[in-house]
Amino acid sequence: MKNDQLVQSTIDFVKKELQNAEGGHDWFHIERVFNTSKSILKQESANSLVVQLAALLHDIADPKFHNGNENIGPSKSREFLESQSVDKEIIEHVVNIIKHMSFKNSLDNNGASFTSKELQIVQDADRLDAIGAIGIARAFNYGGFKNRELYNPEVPPNLQMSKEEYKKSNAPTINHFYEKLLLLKDKMNTTTGKKIAQERHRFMEYFLEQFYREVGIFK
Ligand code: ADP
Ligand code: NI
Repeated sequence: MKNDQLVQSTIDFVKKELQNAEGGHDWFHIERVFNTSKSILKQESANSLVVQLAALLHDIADPKFHNGNENIGPSKSREFLESQSVDKEIIEHVVNIIKHMSFKNSLDNNGASFTSKELQIVQDADRLDAIGAIGIARAFNYGGFKNRELYNPEVPPNLQMSKEEYKKSNAPTINHFYEKLLLLKDKMNTTTGKKIAQERHRFMEYFLEQFYREVGIFK
């Protein structure tokens, strides 16, 4: 199968699988990560097919929505790629990217046993989608999905939480900016990713300033 056809059939598969996904993890998230990955790719030398397939399949089964099960996404992806008779090497690489690119897996260096240029590109594109205007929209959407408070001055951000505590925490959505979103710009891998991140980061800072002004809390 030609690469273009394979990418198209992957798009069709992902769209179908994500039909009922929550707004921050729906097809449009995938489409943004796919497009951003392709623009970063223009500035980097990496395997274009691997980048495109990994971007499309990276959230096919988010553990957050599957009782924490981290294996469903990689195995669904493998199954799909095998059904399309994709080269074994490409399948292994794409599946490895999907297994290793989550914030959690990349946060502690002990856990992250795999990396590649292709992973770095898709990871940057995914992180860019968590910051800036779209990142703000996604965070409040996710918080709403979880029925969380927008903000609460009595519950300050907690940067010392363990990963397990963080997952269980029902903290107000604004805390998520301090616990994760504002930290992302320093975690970018590629030069292009870093550049885009800076601009989106500034926009979040500006948003927070205005937010506190309106709420009447001075930070
Ligand atoms: P992705 O699936 O894109 O790799 P995540 O699953 O970590 O990233 O998060 C998806 C989106 O939901 C992101 O925009 C993220 O900021 C948001 N999100 C995740 N956890 C929280 C939280 N505790 N509060 C608010 N937003 C969250
Ligand atoms: Ni994602």
